[in-house]
Amino acid sequence: MSFIHEEDLSVADTEVFAIIQNEFERQSTHLEMIASENFTSPAVMEAMGSIFTNKYAEGYPNKRYYGGCQFADQVEQLAKDRLCKIFGCDYANVQPHSGSQANGAVYAALLQAGDKILGMDLRHGGHLTHGAKPSFSGKNYHSFTYGVEADGRMDYEKIAQIAEIVKPKIIVCGASAYTREIDFKKFRTIAERVGAILFADIAHIAGLVAAGEHMNPFPYADVVTSTTHKTLRGPRGGVIMTNNEEIAKKIDSAIFPGIQGGPLVHVIAAKAVAFGEVLHPSWKEYAKAVKSNAKLLGEIMNQRGFQLISGGTDNHMILISLMDKEFSGEEASVALENAGITVNKNSIPSDPRPASSTSGIRIGSAALTTLGMKEKEFTLIAHRISDVLDDIQNIPLQMEIKAELETLLKGFRVYNYATY
Ligand SMILES: Cc1ncc(COP(=O)(O)O)c(C=O)c1O
Repeated sequence: MSFIHEEDLSVADTEVFAIIQNEFERQSTHLEMIASENFTSPAVMEAMGSIFTNKYAEGYPNKRYYGGCQFADQVEQLAKDRLCKIFGCDYANVQPHSGSQANGAVYAALLQAGDKILGMDLRHGGHLTHGAKPSFSGKNYHSFTYGVEADGRMDYEKIAQIAEIVKPKIIVCGASAYTREIDFKKFRTIAERVGAILFADIAHIAGLVAAGEHMNPFPYADVVTSTTHKTLRGPRGGVIMTNNEEIAKKIDSAIFPGIQGGPLVHVIAAKAVAFGEVLHPSWKEYAKAVKSNAKLLGEIMNQRGFQLISGGTDNHMILISLMDKEFSGEEASVALENAGITVNKNSIPSDPRPASSTSGIRIGSAALTTLGMKEKEFTLIAHRISDVLDDIQNIPLQMEIKAELETLLKGFRVYNYATY
């Protein structure tokens, strides 16, 4: 008799099933506007829940340390090929378990402990892994930062001056909360001026880059990382890409055996499915809509009197400054959650509040665009967000808006079941 229990999860583990049901309910009844989230397709989830979860495949296609890897090889090679096709590069590593792992591998491959890195300040929109002190990137390496100006935009000449002084081994470009197009060509010029390696982290904008809706870091960057779960709409995970064979070899060794053991083959299979979706002609339409929806959201909130960092957006997110308000980003996100809208509090440049409360909120359009929401819905949502923030203590209003938005969401269901 087999020790496998073949019942569905609903029977096999009622506790976990109930929690997943509740999460399904939450995702189906709240407007998902966290800029780093999205809804993957059922096909992506099916691959992620597949029997590849059982497989150990340390190593790389055709160079494994375990037997029985022929199908793991096929699926990993497919994911790599599709990724290279999307971004127009020669080498890809699809094994990083997350964006942070991908960034850690880039440093491990190209730096020695204590080497200088120059990245965007966390409080100006950079990511923890771009040299922030609490992260390995700020602990293991000598990190320096650049930021944005009073207008919320990067000043490339100023960044060049900082780079001249610092003389970093690596310059990191890319951000978690920057609303304007990143000019990779200008970063290349800066890197060349100071003899630095150019590393682009496109975790947030990858889905837009894939559609030609944002400048591609290739051919300018020496190495590029991304997450696969934000605008790219795949499973949670990371990837690394390059056109340089030497760098590719070092990256492969840095991931395995450097910082990871066996790859998550089920997630790699799901990455391959997601990349297949990105290669579909409809992706361009999706990415265009993500951008136009974010732009509209920003324009209406601007008209309603809210200050936008950089004045607007070129990508999938807006950053609202609450410096002229009496409440924090934390209070704003709680009030919006009460009204059925999920966003995140976000530090803004020169924020006087700590990261636990902040003076800003970040709002993204990628997930709701996946559901099929367009101009009409984003117009309504922009007004409802503004209504909540204009009268933040008004709990009955929040309840009223929550009911209205739940009705709206009934017309935009992406999933019929909690599990696949
Ligand atoms: C620019 C950037 N890089 C890296 C990461 C890290 O990704 P993960 O959360 O998968 O480690 C993020 C996540 O928010 C990000 O915004």
